Amino acid sequence: YKRSREPSGDQNPHKRHGAAVTLATNRQMYERNFPLYKQPVEVGCFSLDSHRNFFNDHRQMRYYVQPSKCPEFNLRDGYTDRFIKRDDGVKERLDHLLKWILANRDKIQNRDQTSSSSLVLGVDFVTWRGHLTKVLTTPYETHEGWLLAASKFGGTVYISEVETEAARTDREKRSERQEEMMYWGYKFEQYACADGVDGTPDPGGVVNTNEAFCTVVQTRLADHKLLFSGEVDCRVSDADAPPAPACYVELKTSAEICTPKQRSNFHRYKLLKWWAQSFLPGVPQIVAGFRDHDGVVVSMETIQTSKISQLIKNEFNCWKPTVCMNFCSDFLSFVKSVVKEDDPRLVYLFTWDPHRDVSYTVHRDSQYSFIPEWYVKELRS
Ligand code: A3P
Ligand code: MG
Ligand code: MG
Repeated sequence: YKRSREPSGDQNPHKRHGAAVTLATNRQMYERNFPLYKQPVEVGCFSLDSHRNFFNDHRQMRYYVQPSKCPEFNLRDGYTDRFIKRDDGVKERLDHLLKWILANRDKIQNRDQTSSSSLVLGVDFVTWRGHLTKVLTTPYETHEGWLLAASKFGGTVYISEVETEAARTDREKRSERQEEMMYWGYKFEQYACADGVDGTPDPGGVVNTNEAFCTVVQTRLADHKLLFSGEVDCRVSDADAPPAPACYVELKTSAEICTPKQRSNFHRYKLLKWWAQSFLPGVPQIVAGFRDHDGVVVSMETIQTSKISQLIKNEFNCWKPTVCMNFCSDFLSFVKSVVKEDDPRLVYLFTWDPHRDVSYTVHRDSQYSFIPEWYVKELRS
């Protein structure tokens, strides 16, 4: 990649004209007008049960229940005796989303019905919302890098994350305190959600993090047609609520804010991640539970996703939504310019480490291949 170190054409984030080999991540390069981002449309949903089995329906959907004025949520309750934790060493890659695609090919919008090949989905990218969240926050991330594997099949680029060495080490060396604190977010969901539209939360039940409800949305970022899926915590229960994803609610926990410094950090770091995660699929509201060091929720606040950019405006040198979205758009253009060969066994591995440019390597029939044979066979048939 020697040539990528040549002085580049100033404002061009691609370091070389023609086929770029790297992509810059400096935030100043992405301070342009906000790119086109179409209102995300839900095209379907799916559920994963307590054994991570896939169901092409909304059986795991939960309903938000507004807690009483001063809730007494003890997030530590049940950690030792009513907690079944998903095995995060098992890598599911895009498998659940691919199952949804096979079962719902007819529901993908603007598919060219006249195309002779059933292979053609009519979208440029298929991925998880969580992968896109990582791309959006890249210009502001200083600690955690990422690896994103991309393969083109039937004209669509599929993007699936690969765990970095650093992330694996962190995961394997988590302290008991860290392990417990990861439970707190799920326990908060149990306090705030009911299984049925007229139900009440059951804080005495088991928290099982295998269970999930996921939305599948389509949208467009600049000239990139996207189809992605993300886990949704719950929806509002009013009968007159707007259709999904506008009825969805994201639940979050965070340490209580006692000092101006803590408020500033919350704006700079937490709200960036919360905004990126909910803005992408068009989830309009976030219910935040602020907890003390003992895991007791001391206050709750509802934050409108669309108001976050105003909330942070008083922070000096703060993150900007336009930088996140322009970087994502340019990253997807970069991926399109690199991923040329249509072959599900070929992986272009995009690598990024903080304070570096994005670069890539190419791998055929390697450990990185992630499009399963059952998917290739079925889509080709
Ligand atoms: P909090 O975000 O309230 O801490 P999500 O909010 O995305 O629905 O995720 C639910 C919970 O899963 C989180 O609740 C957190 O406890 C845990 N979690 C999700 N992503 C995590 C990550 N990258 N590291 C640690 N915990 C995570
Ligand atoms: Mg969630
Ligand atoms: Mg949540």
